[in-house]
Amino acid sequence: MYLSKNIGLRRDWYTDAAFGQQQFTGTNPTTVTLAPRRWMDEFMSVARVQERTDVTKLLTERADNMYVQDYSDFRSSIGLYPGERIVCDGRYGCSSVALFHLETEGKLHPLGIVLDYKGSMQESVTIFNRRIASNVNGNEYEDWPWRFAKTCVQVSDWLRHEVAIHLVNTHLVEEVIIVAAYRSFGPNHIITRLLEPHWSTTLSLNKAARETLVPKIIIGMTGLSASQTYAFLKAEYNKFDWKGLYIPNDLKKRGFPIENLDEPKYHNYGYARNIARMWNIIRKFVSTVLEKEYAGGDQEVVSDRSLAVFCEEVRSRDGGQLTSFPDINTLNELIDFVTMCIHIAVPQHTAVNYLQQYYQTFVPNKPSALHIPLPQSLAELCSFTEQDLLSALPLKKPRDWLLMAQVPYLLSFEVPEESTILHYAETTSSSRATLEIIRSAAQVLSMDLRAFIDTVTRNSTELDDQQTPYLVLDPSKTAISILI
Ligand SMILES: [Fe+2]
Repeated sequence: MYLSKNIGLRRDWYTDAAFGQQQFTGTNPTTVTLAPRRWMDEFMSVARVQERTDVTKLLTERADNMYVQDYSDFRSSIGLYPGERIVCDGRYGCSSVALFHLETEGKLHPLGIVLDYKGSMQESVTIFNRRIASNVNGNEYEDWPWRFAKTCVQVSDWLRHEVAIHLVNTHLVEEVIIVAAYRSFGPNHIITRLLEPHWSTTLSLNKAARETLVPKIIIGMTGLSASQTYAFLKAEYNKFDWKGLYIPNDLKKRGFPIENLDEPKYHNYGYARNIARMWNIIRKFVSTVLEKEYAGGDQEVVSDRSLAVFCEEVRSRDGGQLTSFPDINTLNELIDFVTMCIHIAVPQHTAVNYLQQYYQTFVPNKPSALHIPLPQSLAELCSFTEQDLLSALPLKKPRDWLLMAQVPYLLSFEVPEESTILHYAETTSSSRATLEIIRSAAQVLSMDLRAFIDTVTRNSTELDDQQTPYLVLDPSKTAISILI
């Protein structure tokens, strides 16, 4: 498994630049968010206490360009009090908050980190980067306290990414859609015909995840006990905001409006630039089909009783329990819903699944837990050396190390050519067995996807970081369904 390239082969893998860029093109490029007032205020007051006037000045002058990764909700999700440790069998978890400055030239520079948020920053350990900006020189290699803090953020993100963004928000949400659809639509209903190709393997795979991967592997890799893991999973599922996660809504809410993504400031956000385009490509395909099928418009949508049955099935207490799922009363709402289903199963799952080997097989970059307790004061953190960071890694626990390295490796196996979205579009557009309205729309889809290959390549060449290309959303490699 070490024959495939991974981030550990880069001499600069531990740097602020590599860490910042992972928020935009790493395994979880989906949660970096414009800093809300609350975090700005808290970071500001801690910066004052620590007499970091350079930080307070930057927070004031560049307030609209501050972003966070916020993992502060972990304790409330798993039922721990603010002061309680997140620990299970010698593995420690944490609930970090990371502050980033999106610099004018587009680099996302990490500025401050709360290692483990315990209800307020006064009660928590907060450290600011000695390097106020990406162009300031410094000995990043030997800044062990800061490197430890960045590792805490990676541990926090491991949990959010693997359990929430990946497992819940793609695998499990899609399963609810699949089951509800089979219960509501007949095999020849247009929704079934449109979506079924994107359901391949998902149900059996999820069964294996429920019976083996989660209980026997994932629990045992993090600082959460089994019951805390399930509580976290449930909390994340309850938070899933169906319409809020439509790509245009999600990017806008997180401070990356689609219409601005071609500005130089956003050129490093490869995921956003690609996924926004892909959303439009899928939506165009879906709307071409549905505008023909529901030629009577909104009226015909309302009179399709199976849609109402489906929505109820997704939301109901003895069904999907996905309470944020909307009513579908207009053709536009129907098109958005079908677009979202394909988005989750195809580009979104691919974006958050297939980079795990590259970023996580090299365990020091993104471990799933720490193997020493977190420091309880800034002074303690500032005394940390290389040895402390090494002790936090499972060097003396080969089973933990192997799982941390091997699980991401296994989940990232290359998609066979016949299981890609491009192959689907090209075979569908020429297959006599396909409905004519889907076949003709698929011809345009395959042309759009062909053109999108060049967009993905160009967006990647425009990244500042030219050591790790961002090509995961290339449609000739994007999986047709959630199949691993
Ligand atoms: Fe997956």
